[in-house]
Amino acid sequence: MRTPRDDVQEILIDEKTIARKVAELAKAISRDYSGKDLLIIGVLKGAFVFLSDLLRQMSISPGIDFVAIESYTQGTESSGVVRVLKDLDENAEGRHLLIVEDIVDTGLTLDYLVDNMRNRKAASVKVCALLHKPERRKVEVKIDYKGFTIPDKFVVGYGLDYAQRYRELPFVGVLKPEIYGGESVR
Ligand code: IMP
Ligand code: MG
Repeated sequence: MRTPRDDVQEILIDEKTIARKVAELAKAISRDYSGKDLLIIGVLKGAFVFLSDLLRQMSISPGIDFVAIESYTQGTESSGVVRVLKDLDENAEGRHLLIVEDIVDTGLTLDYLVDNMRNRKAASVKVCALLHKPERRKVEVKIDYKGFTIPDKFVVGYGLDYAQRYRELPFVGVLKPEIYGGESVR
């Protein structure tokens, strides 16, 4: 039987390497926010796998909330026009906010989100991202907790999708070109 794994051309970051990095990040976050009112904000959908692993390695007990924003549409590039599909349920005022993202590509999504969160009179706003592609950056955003720097390749797995698929893969990988059907993912 053909499985999603068979569509992968190359594993960029394997499960163990991810787990080690996630533990490191969780340790740093736990230390930095010890004794503080931290609200972690996961960016749906891509960040949910990373966030759930990260959370379970923490030695503090932060609040958890989610936002959903529209940036990428199926197989195309982020336009820079960001729309909020789901806002925070929690009140952010006076709290320390940590935005957790799967990947920072052009930076447009995070730039918008950081700005949006700052306007809520938070005590602080910081960013944690599992992956970043510096070559693709259009706006500078500060990533306070950074997992891995990756080359300019479209990746899937560990929460990241192509056309809403492959989020279940336990590693970060690159798909075989034929999966994109010859069409560019940008
Ligand atoms: P940005 O606004 O260009 O930084 O895009 C950020 C969002 O685009 C991420 O939260 C992802 O959902 C999506 N994205 C960017 N690069 C990739 C990729 O290589 N694979 C899957 N999704 C990606
Ligand atoms: Mg995303």
